[in-house]
Amino acid sequence: MAEKEIVETSEAQIAVHWQEEAYFHPSARFIAQANMTDEAIYDRFRLENFPNCFKAYADLLDWYEYWHTILDTSDAPCWKWFVGGKINAAYNCVDRHLARHKNKTAIHFVPEPMGEKYEHITYQTLYVRVNEFAALLRDFCGLKAGDRVTLHLPMVAELPITMLACARLGVIHSQVFGGFSGQACADRIVDSGSRVLITMDAYWRGGTLLDHKKNADVACEVAAKQGRAVDKVLVWQRYPGKYSAATPLVPDRDHVVNDVLPKYYGARIDPVPMPAEAPLFLMYTSGTTGKPKGCQHSTGGYLAYVAATSKYVQDIHPEDVYWCMADIGWITGHSYIVYGPLAVCASTVVYEGVPTFPDAGRSWRIAQDLDVNIFHTAPTAIRALRKIGPEEPRKYNYHFKHMTTVGEPIEPEVWRWYYNEVGKGEAVIVDTWWQTETGGFLCSTLPAIKPMKPGSAGPGMPGIHTIIYDDEGHVLPQGAGKAGNICIQNPWPGAFQTIWGDRERYVRQYYERYCKDPQSKDWRDWPYLTGDAAVEAPDGYIRILGRIDDVINVSGHRLGTKEIESAALMVPEVAEAAVVPVAHEIKGKEPDLYVSLKPGFEVHDGLARKVSDAVCDAIGKIAKPRKVWIVKDMPKTRSGKIMRRVLGALSNNQDAGDVTTLANPDIVDEIRRMVQG
Ligand code: WTA
Repeated sequence: MAEKEIVETSEAQIAVHWQEEAYFHPSARFIAQANMTDEAIYDRFRLENFPNCFKAYADLLDWYEYWHTILDTSDAPCWKWFVGGKINAAYNCVDRHLARHKNKTAIHFVPEPMGEKYEHITYQTLYVRVNEFAALLRDFCGLKAGDRVTLHLPMVAELPITMLACARLGVIHSQVFGGFSGQACADRIVDSGSRVLITMDAYWRGGTLLDHKKNADVACEVAAKQGRAVDKVLVWQRYPGKYSAATPLVPDRDHVVNDVLPKYYGARIDPVPMPAEAPLFLMYTSGTTGKPKGCQHSTGGYLAYVAATSKYVQDIHPEDVYWCMADIGWITGHSYIVYGPLAVCASTVVYEGVPTFPDAGRSWRIAQDLDVNIFHTAPTAIRALRKIGPEEPRKYNYHFKHMTTVGEPIEPEVWRWYYNEVGKGEAVIVDTWWQTETGGFLCSTLPAIKPMKPGSAGPGMPGIHTIIYDDEGHVLPQGAGKAGNICIQNPWPGAFQTIWGDRERYVRQYYERYCKDPQSKDWRDWPYLTGDAAVEAPDGYIRILGRIDDVINVSGHRLGTKEIESAALMVPEVAEAAVVPVAHEIKGKEPDLYVSLKPGFEVHDGLARKVSDAVCDAIGKIAKPRKVWIVKDMPKTRSGKIMRRVLGALSNNQDAGDVTTLANPDIVDEIRRMVQG
């Protein structure tokens, strides 16, 4: 394991040769209106002031009962924040804004078909819809605080409405990315122990109205085989009153929401005051083993952290129109489309489809139509938009004051296009580095205080104290110019609480490596391992180089190589499978899949396709391999370990390096001829 991590860290280092960039400074105009301009914030959040500094974040929220203990470490490394506090997330995101802002748009929904009108849901309407749906969940489904429910919804306004209805009741939601397959959804239903699945009949993507309901049938069937019966499937309709899927409803199990809902019109449900440390949601993500893990996020700590970072990093004011292009099925959408922005009373945009359809101007047209002034997206989208329409942003009349990039490293050249063309030289950019596990931003500039540096995420957020270790556990000091494993020295309120149902894995994966004393109850002994390689420049800015573990970042989405490999191994002919990341101009990385066959099986037409389809069925199209290479044998060490490093080099048109120590060096040449021609 250690050997592999050293190799991958240095590989990541080689992959990125960006020269140090000049700083870009925010405009006086931006600073004049910014929420956070006080440089002393960094002093207030120094380690000496930890954890009390985070009181300021909790105070952005309304509490039923104020907490008595800011941080309880007695169950280290499962941290409890704001203990004794009682709070409701839906109340904080909806009800408390009604007094002053009930007529303000909370959610702008942008449908994909050009002819369909945008929907503008005010805070009052959101309040009504959340209450009615919460009533349905409670009284029709019998859901109560602490129950889990799986959502497999596309990007429609009903998704945040469903999440907030759950939050109102203290029901733990687990939203599965809409593009994931029914099988992937089933795994998450089983792991979370959900007996209710909430889905939608259909949604638009790239010009097609996709039948989404069929995934629910697969999900229920697969979950049933694993012993988890789903007794109710609630089906929202993309067009209320009209069922748009080809897949029929299953009697008794499936219920069209719009048929049941009228019974609850006018219902008002008191928000349930939840303990601050009660789980708000689960978000499954890929890690080093085959099984996705359910990151469990708290109510009070999480909401405080995303509210504060939305206010100070995203610079959201109630009068702004804020558009984060991510999918709500990922953590970015949970934290920075739904909970953070709504907690600070933003107008947040939910859009259906893809940025490049029907044309390269779609994003800028939406920005113009809604007068969006804060824009948030990922390098993969920026690269795609730059490629197909470099001049396109100029044709539209919009003005961003602020832009975000998230999810993967951004090349300085792409950064500059984002700055000059998309931002028209007017907008500040924040490069926010964080993870599903961390709930909110770890590193970023505070936009009115710190200058921007293309390609660097910036320093740790206030109260986030980074530390970079080498593989031997030595600290790499600021400016060392060497890459290492970036960790966070202290807990913070947004951090996940544990892996759902698997505390042992939580400890092992995130805390064991650099833990100073496994018996300790002191947070100082438990640095959090992020799994990324990074370098810290002399100015304290962090540049993230990529993952040190078996995670591939495709278009900013995390995929576990082990998940893809296990899917390939389900194909009867396949004996061994190995996945490696290949550089891709738009997506950042793509998976290349190598398989060898069991004795007695021959390569045949359609086999590669069969393997590729197996991966898409198990995970979703997003995991589709660039290419399935059927090889006679895998390059292996003498102890029989597959050398993924060698395959990775071949896939990326690089030299395989020294392979003389392998058990079967000859195979490398054979594979090279196949892959590199
Ligand atoms: C990567 C997404 C460079 C990183 C919020 C991390 C980034 C993984 C950045 C988490 C960034 C995220 N610069 N790399 N600004 N943001 N990453 O859990 O490798 O989907 O560990 O969370 O994405 O992906 P996840």
